[in-house]
Amino acid sequence: MTAPTGEVFDIMLDGKPVRVRAGANLGATLHTLMQGHLRDTASGQPRGLFCGMGVCFDCVVLIDGVPARACLTTVAPDMNVVRSAGRSS
Ligand code: FES
Repeated sequence: MTAPTGEVFDIMLDGKPVRVRAGANLGATLHTLMQGHLRDTASGQPRGLFCGMGVCFDCVVLIDGVPARACLTTVAPDMNVVRSAGRSS
């Protein structure tokens, strides 16, 4: 994992550009931006960071169309992140 630096760039989050800090953890970034709400379950229950270390899968989002755990991901320029709604991935 890379430590955040002073460099900033945009990623796309649910179709909108958001400014992030290079080297930042995506899960922590989304937790801050979305006030902890990373996705919804099929029954509509909100989910966010739980374990923070890749075990629970509660932080799964689509990154460039591929399901991935946000807590294990470092932000990258032009990353396209879509929060899952109503499904487990
Ligand atoms: S918060 Fe548990 S896998 Fe990411």
